Amino acid sequence: MSDRYDLIVRNARVATAADTFDADLGITGGKIVAIAQRLPAGSADREIDAAGRWVTPGGVDAHCHLDQPMVEPMRMADDFETGSRSAACGGTTTVIPFAAQVKGHSLREAVDDYHRRAEGKASIDYAFHLIVSDPTPDVIARELPALVGEGYTSFKIYMTYDDLKLDDGEILACLEAARGLGAMTMIHAENADAIAYLTKRLTEQGKTAPRFHGMSRPMPVEREATHRAITLSELVDVPILIVHVSGAEAVEQIRWARGKGLNILAETCPQYLFLTQEHLGLDGFHGAKCVCSPPPRDARNQQVIWDGLADGLFTIVSSDHAPFRYDDPQGKKLGGEEPSFEYIPNGIPGLETRLPLLFSEGVLAGRLTIQQFVALTSTNPAKLYGLYPRKGTIAIGADADLVIWDTSKRQPIRNEMLHHEVDYTPYEGIEVGAWPATTVCRGKVVWDGVSFTGRAGDGQFLACGLPEPAKPRVRNESWREWVGL
Ligand code: URP
Ligand code: ZN
Ligand code: ZN
Repeated sequence: MSDRYDLIVRNARVATAADTFDADLGITGGKIVAIAQRLPAGSADREIDAAGRWVTPGGVDAHCHLDQPMVEPMRMADDFETGSRSAACGGTTTVIPFAAQVKGHSLREAVDDYHRRAEGKASIDYAFHLIVSDPTPDVIARELPALVGEGYTSFKIYMTYDDLKLDDGEILACLEAARGLGAMTMIHAENADAIAYLTKRLTEQGKTAPRFHGMSRPMPVEREATHRAITLSELVDVPILIVHVSGAEAVEQIRWARGKGLNILAETCPQYLFLTQEHLGLDGFHGAKCVCSPPPRDARNQQVIWDGLADGLFTIVSSDHAPFRYDDPQGKKLGGEEPSFEYIPNGIPGLETRLPLLFSEGVLAGRLTIQQFVALTSTNPAKLYGLYPRKGTIAIGADADLVIWDTSKRQPIRNEMLHHEVDYTPYEGIEVGAWPATTVCRGKVVWDGVSFTGRAGDGQFLACGLPEPAKPRVRNESWREWVGL
């Protein structure tokens, strides 16, 4: 144990995904180098007294969109500077946004462009997922293996959105590539043709208000695609992560798959715990603020998502931060109009509110243990994307990414408290009983409870390792031998 530290966090009530304990934490060179009941007085350049408050590992938000190139005139409000600032103030110290391939272009172009967007701007650490929208033979055989080898070990594929969606054959090709490489495939599971069919019927009847967004993508649209994604993953025999799971019928499909022993992982987001279809029907055009896909459901579905968090169905909780301003021709009021729901940019902001909402209504409300909270928001995403144990835990040798929690008062969330560039939060007025008092990223205080104290450019790019290998399965289908799977 070194006898001099850059920083000591004293009197911490530490929570990891496994344990809770009281300790002083000694930090040097951005790493945790000592965990002790009591570190010597005067042995650090700086001390922070946690005063017995909860100290958790910095959050890992493994699904967020920052400065992602959009079809004109849509534009994301947050770039790496404002997005990472907002994340830091909400207790998140690592983000994993998406380098999105444009159809007809290479994955490498997307990655190079995305590095330029992040360079000098991020104040917290970041890695990239890929989005594969054009899985050409070259992408499958050459680009993906090279990029996975360089630390881009996960990619998202879409079953909907005209500019992104893959057909089942293309999905199978991607899954086979993921299996060969040990990469993680994230799947956006909604049936594109069903959405197009329902959207046409609604708009032909003049039903174009934001609330009809939910009716164009009802639960069966997600249920069918979730089942299909599971089946394709079963055929190839490769784990997948179903992202942004919104409600009961998708959860049922995932439970069924787990019951069969399939390696199906699931992610959900705060919008499926705190918003409902009623938010899409807010007066005037305000429902547009909650337009995201899949859409928020209802109270019964929210309960199913809480149950899935408590009983281990879900592996991770991410924000799916997709920052579009409300009163802006590049955002929800696209082109300066109040467009039909089919043209409202999909996605809502949530980087800064993810952890306070889940700590408050999960841990403080008794729905989750604090270890579960840490696992869902930090440890599991770090493991899933090959960043553990550097990220996602409080242990000797881990990066000193920490959150000290203030749970002494309840306060309503107000957009003016937040540090993103979006002109609203869908969680306006929701009371929370937990907020980060201090966020530390690699040993530096980036949020002191009042101000953002980080610096653009201090964030480091993280090359991801491979996800932990899935548990081996019993595979006794005779057809597998014939097809060589
Ligand atoms: O509505 C959403 N979720 N927008 C962000 C993009 C995505 O599909 O995750
Ligand atoms: Zn998605
Ligand atoms: Zn997303």
